[in-house]
Amino acid sequence: MTSENVQVARLGQLLESKINNRTAHVGIVGLGYVGLPLVISNWTAGYQVSGFDIDPIKVESLKRGKSYISDITNTQVAAVAHDRSVSFHCGLEHVSTCDFVIICVPTPLKHSTDPESSLEPDMSILRSAIAGISTYIRRGQVVIIESTSYPGTTRREVLPILTENSNLNVGIDFFVAFSPERINPGSDSYELKSIPKLVGGITNECTQLVTGYYRTIFDQVIKVSSPEVAELAKLVENSYRLVNIGFVNELAILCEDWGIDIWEVIEAADSKPFGFQKFYPGPGVGGHCIPVDPLYLSWFAKETGLTTSLIDRASEINRGMPSYLIRKINKLLDASATGGTKRVLIIGVTYKADVADCRESTAFHLIEKLSTSGFQVDYFDPLVTEIILDNGTRLVSEKFELIDYRTYDLVIIHTDHSSINYLTISERANAIFDTRNILRRRGIVASHISTL
Ligand SMILES: NC(=O)c1ccc[n+]([C@@H]2O[C@H](COP(=O)([O-])OP(=O)(O)OC[C@H]3O[C@@H](n4cnc5c(N)ncnc54)[C@H](O)[C@@H]3O)[C@@H](O)[C@H]2O)c1
Repeated sequence: MTSENVQVARLGQLLESKINNRTAHVGIVGLGYVGLPLVISNWTAGYQVSGFDIDPIKVESLKRGKSYISDITNTQVAAVAHDRSVSFHCGLEHVSTCDFVIICVPTPLKHSTDPESSLEPDMSILRSAIAGISTYIRRGQVVIIESTSYPGTTRREVLPILTENSNLNVGIDFFVAFSPERINPGSDSYELKSIPKLVGGITNECTQLVTGYYRTIFDQVIKVSSPEVAELAKLVENSYRLVNIGFVNELAILCEDWGIDIWEVIEAADSKPFGFQKFYPGPGVGGHCIPVDPLYLSWFAKETGLTTSLIDRASEINRGMPSYLIRKINKLLDASATGGTKRVLIIGVTYKADVADCRESTAFHLIEKLSTSGFQVDYFDPLVTEIILDNGTRLVSEKFELIDYRTYDLVIIHTDHSSINYLTISERANAIFDTRNILRRRGIVASHISTL
């Protein structure tokens, strides 16, 4: 055995014993939709946990035991915040005391106010978080990247920054792996621990150590041969959704011309017990994953002189949906209303049902487009009390019980939150445009209701 092998074996044994007797100290960098649930899972598994976030409001809120994420209750946060084995910090100094450091910071697209322009990865937040922890990295630590990114990020972007200011060698002095997060916010069908965890390390030792650690938190951990496989697997999962949603959105537009009900077609096709998975049309795609991650893949393909034509086309179709909705809304209102400013009420502004997350929500594009087309727009969302549009306009949610439906020419259902009383809306509204088909799913059918 070489001296390097002996050193790796010793560090590995030390970390394994800390995993087995739960004396390992885990640091989570980025306490959002991904990081905060991980704090709770690590604490539940018995580890000492330090949470790091640059947002002082979030850190203060966690210290006071208050959650800012709809899937995590105040009771859950209070339980961890009041336990001495958990601490929350704005600065990164305590990273030096952690055995495992997990990175969960955002990987968005470069901002553009034009929803139909071509978009590129914004790696600045990930780079800056890695640069921040690189000052504190020491021998024997394990760094895991959970932020979604393009293949090669861990090896080519993260590793050089981590090692820039140290003489540490990966796989010998410290360990690095990529392990994508696959959480599904707003859904309680899959508990975090039951979602299989993929792990791809820079070296076999990295994969081995991270696999051993995650086995204490997740029911199933799957080793893959490299970080690149794990990085690409995550992008493939979300691109699969994007492409299929683009397909049904395009079909929905065609079906309108053909006079065929797309929703009935999808249910009919779904009666086949194999070879078909149903996706639904809607106002486009939103959130931090589906509209974003596939564009990391598309960008990566272009960087390597290749193209992902299906992803690009699906993304174009999905991003064009708000414009299509406007055309449809204009048609509906031309047919039904008299002159004067048209008033519309948007129901639901989040990107999907039962989450409070408005990132990349198509409701914002829809509201802006409607406003610039001369409509007066109000909204109601039980999970979002106010929104600020790209142009700085602030809108406050209507109170459900005070909505006077007679004053609206059209009610547009954008997000199908399960808590909304759709019967009341259907009984009182003059006309409804249901982009999610939630009314029919609730058994509500009437002539003043239109669907996509
Ligand atoms: N939200 C999801 O459903 C989901 C699912 C799977 C994967 N992901 C991926 O996980 C990553 C995180 O997503 P999220 O939804 O949790 O984002 P988020 O915005 O909810 O949380 C990220 C947190 O990181 C903090 N942060 C930013 N820079 C930081 C820094 N330098 N140091 C410390 N903290 C910093 C932010 O203040 C924020 O609280 C992204 O790459 C995303 O694509 C998200």
